[in-house]
Amino acid sequence: MQKLIIKGRKELSGKISISGSKNATLPILAACILANQVKIKNIPLVKDIFTMIELLNFIGLKTKLLKKKNTIEIINLEKKINTLAPYKLVKTMRAGVLVLGSLLTKYKKAKVSLPGGCAIGTRPVDLHLFALKKLGAKIKIKDGYIYATAKSGLKGTNIKFPSISVGATENALLAAFKARGKTVLKNCAVEPEIKDLIVFLKKLGANINCKGRTISIKNVEAINSKVVHEVIFDRIELGTYMIAGALLAKKKLIIDRINPKIIKTEIEVLKKIGIKITQKKTSIVIKESTKLKKINITTKPYPGFPTDLQGQLMVLLTQVKGVSKIKEEIFENRFMHVPELKRMGAQIEIKNKTAIINGPTKLTGAEVMATDLRASVSLVIAGLIAENRTIINRIYHLDRGYEFLEKKLEKCRAEIRRT
Ligand code: EPZ
Repeated sequence: MQKLIIKGRKELSGKISISGSKNATLPILAACILANQVKIKNIPLVKDIFTMIELLNFIGLKTKLLKKKNTIEIINLEKKINTLAPYKLVKTMRAGVLVLGSLLTKYKKAKVSLPGGCAIGTRPVDLHLFALKKLGAKIKIKDGYIYATAKSGLKGTNIKFPSISVGATENALLAAFKARGKTVLKNCAVEPEIKDLIVFLKKLGANINCKGRTISIKNVEAINSKVVHEVIFDRIELGTYMIAGALLAKKKLIIDRINPKIIKTEIEVLKKIGIKITQKKTSIVIKESTKLKKINITTKPYPGFPTDLQGQLMVLLTQVKGVSKIKEEIFENRFMHVPELKRMGAQIEIKNKTAIINGPTKLTGAEVMATDLRASVSLVIAGLIAENRTIINRIYHLDRGYEFLEKKLEKCRAEIRRT
């Protein structure tokens, strides 16, 4: 099994270019079932994307991945379509459940494996099914599968989500694309990745309006063929490298191919802590930051502080004087990096949903492992600032979502290698 070996305390300098967003690419790929012929650029070459492509191939779409160009061409020839998303593909990548909305609205039926829980929480799909039922789908759960049918097609309606969910908003949008009449979705998630999906659906021909957390969509009249779309940058990858830079940049670390306007909250939080950040139009510069200040933060849906950066921020706070607190409000089990950070010397206590971090503490290298993507990358940052050598096990989690992680860091002088 592959590992990462990190020799810590090396200054980070140079430039890191941010890849396309994994969490924007996944629903856009699911939306390709609705399209005829598309070209999607700036897709990250990471495991979750490969799994989604495998799922599209299984369904019967023709895909051509141009790795050197981070581009995929997809054609739906409408031949031998399989309206099934099997367990073996959905179990390794929960976003597989997003094909449900597209398959159901276009082919009037779908059989999609229930994704089940995962390391960060139970992660049910009741809100996805709630929206599909409101649109007229008949849903049955049997043998670990969701059986959905809409014999006479889906029908637009008003839906108010009882709580905010990224995936449920995406599935509802995909289903509403071909639902008859108008659908109004209220209390939606409005993450930039959802906005990117909307841009893509509009290119396909959808008529969509957004106002705050309300999204209205009229059924598509005609689907445009030969659509080209470039996926937005990965704001979580950006946040991850900003935090690494905040801890290790001396002269300067430039992070480019981004739009700082999308991550206002993250920039505000890091500036409050005392990180020196200069914003340009498509890049950010991080300089050596001293006199860091403690902070209390709660993770929230966008535009709040993202749960996907909670672990990375926690590593930063281990280096800040005083007691900081992070409350995790999105997932019930997302502190798995904490025991490993404690083994490296961090002083962190968990009380219910809150992590209480007492800093600053010197971290020392250790052999560690984590059970999800963002927890794993937090350990990478911890390894980069720790004394001596850190060995990160189970790096397949990192490969699910970080494109060229060690190459990007090595280019900025980190000592990190894969064995
Ligand atoms: C998306 O997951 C992201 N995944 C996650 O990123 C991210 O952490 C999460 O949104 C929150 O921002 C993708 O975009 C592929 P949710 P998703 O539905 O859609 C509960 C990463 O590391 N809920 O907004 O699954 C749920 O349990 C990943 O890249 C229900 O109760 O998140 C959670 O507590 C991890 N019923 C909360 O809502 C439902 O039907 C928010 O989950 C759906 C969700």
